[in-house]
Amino acid sequence: MKANNKLEHLAIIMDGNGRWATRRGKSRLFGHKAGVESLKRTVSACIELDIKILSVFAFSTENWSRPKEEVDGIMNLISDFCEQDVQRCVDLGVKVVTMGDLSRLPDKLKTALLNLIQKTKDNNKLIVNVGINYGARAEIVRAVNLMLADRVKSCDEKTFANYLYTSQLPDPDLIIRASGENRLSNFMLYQCAYSEFYFPKVHWPDFNKKVIQKAIKVYQKRNRRFGGLLAK
Ligand code: FPP
Repeated sequence: MKANNKLEHLAIIMDGNGRWATRRGKSRLFGHKAGVESLKRTVSACIELDIKILSVFAFSTENWSRPKEEVDGIMNLISDFCEQDVQRCVDLGVKVVTMGDLSRLPDKLKTALLNLIQKTKDNNKLIVNVGINYGARAEIVRAVNLMLADRVKSCDEKTFANYLYTSQLPDPDLIIRASGENRLSNFMLYQCAYSEFYFPKVHWPDFNKKVIQKAIKVYQKRNRRFGGLLAK
């Protein structure tokens, strides 16, 4: 176990953009725009709090079923971020990686993402792992198919984890879902076996450093036993 329950990898389900906007009489896309700003603030907060990895759920394999206007809007927001914030990421020391099937994304977004990944690959202050067209079940099935293609003869947990998008990352220590929903919705199912969970009521656009600090306090009080006995 990590000393003093150190929070190294935080994963966040950024939920509640739509409700936040609707309550203000605005479009759902207005909420997603505010969500991008919240993500930028959260990245800075993670650096200030010495968190090393931030995984976020930006677009799920199920989100394609939303109205085309909303899907296109989210894709545009992500590509605008990738195009406009490269230098900001470099200055902050942020390394961007992704999990999910990028092949179905619009070409403009794919190009912008690959450029951002390439330009930030040598940074080491904070890894930001963005789930785009990501679903945990699809990730697990993909891993099995990759192993079959590699003619893997036998498999243990370590071998299997090497075929996941997160092969280079440790498992999340803490998963936060904003907006008061208490479910994982197909997010990092294999990786969260021993993660702690925290479900604040705040909608994602209003999420801030104070919420993370509160979550860290709660997390540090938890006794992570990983199936073993209480540490003395
Ligand atoms: C969930 O809120 C949010 C999303 C499906 C999209 C989140 C995307 C972003 C914040 C953009 C990410 C940007 C970058 C740069 C990676 P919801 O729409 O499900 O909210 P609701 O439950 O209130 O309807």
